[in-house]
Amino acid sequence: MSKKLFIKTWGCQMNVYDSHKMADILASLGYETTEAPDDADLMILNTCHIREKATEKVFSDLGRLRAHKEAKAEKGEKALIAVAGCVAQAEGDVILQRAQYVDMVFGPQTYHRLPEMVLQATGDKRVVNTDFPVESKFDYLPADSQMQGPSAFLSVQEGCDKFCTFCVVPYTRGAEFSRPAEQVLDEAKRLEAQGVKEITLLGQNVNAWHGAGTDGSEWDLARLISALSDVKGIERIRYMTSHPKDMNDDLIAAHGEIAKLMPFLHLPVQSGSDRILELMNRKHTADFYIDIIERLKKARPGIALSSDFIVGFPGETDEDHAQTMALVERITYSSCYSFKYSPRPGTPGAVMKGVVPEKTKDARLHELQALLQKQQLDFNLSAVGKTVPVLFDRKGNKPGQLLGKSPWMQSVYVDANERLYGQTVDVMIEKAFQNGMSGAIVTTEETLSTPDKKRDAA
Ligand code: SAH
Ligand code: SF4
Ligand code: F3S
Repeated sequence: MSKKLFIKTWGCQMNVYDSHKMADILASLGYETTEAPDDADLMILNTCHIREKATEKVFSDLGRLRAHKEAKAEKGEKALIAVAGCVAQAEGDVILQRAQYVDMVFGPQTYHRLPEMVLQATGDKRVVNTDFPVESKFDYLPADSQMQGPSAFLSVQEGCDKFCTFCVVPYTRGAEFSRPAEQVLDEAKRLEAQGVKEITLLGQNVNAWHGAGTDGSEWDLARLISALSDVKGIERIRYMTSHPKDMNDDLIAAHGEIAKLMPFLHLPVQSGSDRILELMNRKHTADFYIDIIERLKKARPGIALSSDFIVGFPGETDEDHAQTMALVERITYSSCYSFKYSPRPGTPGAVMKGVVPEKTKDARLHELQALLQKQQLDFNLSAVGKTVPVLFDRKGNKPGQLLGKSPWMQSVYVDANERLYGQTVDVMIEKAFQNGMSGAIVTTEETLSTPDKKRDAA
């Protein structure tokens, strides 16, 4: 009988990718994934440490998993509880102490060692592994993956050397590391063979990717994307998350030259104030950022832009906040994430003077989000009446509904035959909302003859 694996994932897309890889490696030990923790033999929480709230949620979930473990024990069955990801990396010892029922704690760079760790925990030995091993996990994780759907993540870079003063990532993920181009291309081809149509290249600082190319020379991300665009079945390429300092000329030009590179970029700026950017150690000014955006807009007219913002960083005044608002007005984003600053233990920001009162943070976040939401709605509204190519990558909640993405990263809901799942189809946009749009398929020969019919006719 196969064993059951439950994984819950928090945090960034890298964690989503990692959870898939953990499932892949555990499949080779006979573990099948389940959506229900109560029938799992191994429960993994893949955690995020980026803000305080993310960490708190882990401890409240652990309490629930403990109940499942105890219920199993009463039936004479054994279940293991594991904490992986960035909380495990940052607070491994605290977890082991605070939660005696946790069997395994391991950080993001150790997933390739899961088989031996599971074996150890099965033998009643608590596992703690927060090493940064010399070998790269990517050399050991299974290359083939269980089908993820038409849109897949592909990790190409991990870790960060930037040390923004608010951020835990350099501590939890370690130093920057780029996977060799050949390994990335190989994984892309395997995804293509599974029917994947869109890949999103992932990295904490993905545009810092650089590595040995297949021709022996050193490549940058633009060159890697160009090589990936030769993989025939891959129709769409995206990458995230990027740092403004690493947007080189070739990468900006690539947005105009590589048709498969989608007209959307998530380029976080965090603040519009040079003073705060300096305190954050972002290593650039607001003007530097605006210049990159202008060049991107020139290279790829109509490109949609996105960013992350932090309000209430220590020392932020009303004037600094006004500069953030002015930057948002000037750029005009299609969608953004914005957060209240959350002090993280061990980061320089946590001990900086000029702590901003919670009330002020709330007010600034409210004001910023109102503007960002307005821009997002306006952006979606501007598509009404237009025909856009939509890649259907999810099934809708209602039967007969498919969900897809426009090139500009908007969610699009359509009443459509399920057989169009995984295909890119022209959709006439009828309605726009804050978080997406809906429309109707533009009927053509192609959409009328479903894949099954085509096969039948062949
Ligand atoms: N590598 C990415 C971001 C990683 S974290 C980059 O360089 O932009 C994702 C976002 O979380 C950040 O962009 C930032 O806006 C937010 N964030 C990170 N640390 C935070 C903190 N201590 N408090 C509030 N938001 C934070
Ligand atoms: Fe964190 Fe800054 Fe690195 Fe992004 S660039 S992961 S915000 S330290
Ligand atoms: Fe969170 Fe770690 Fe990603 S802290 S955002 S899961 S890199």
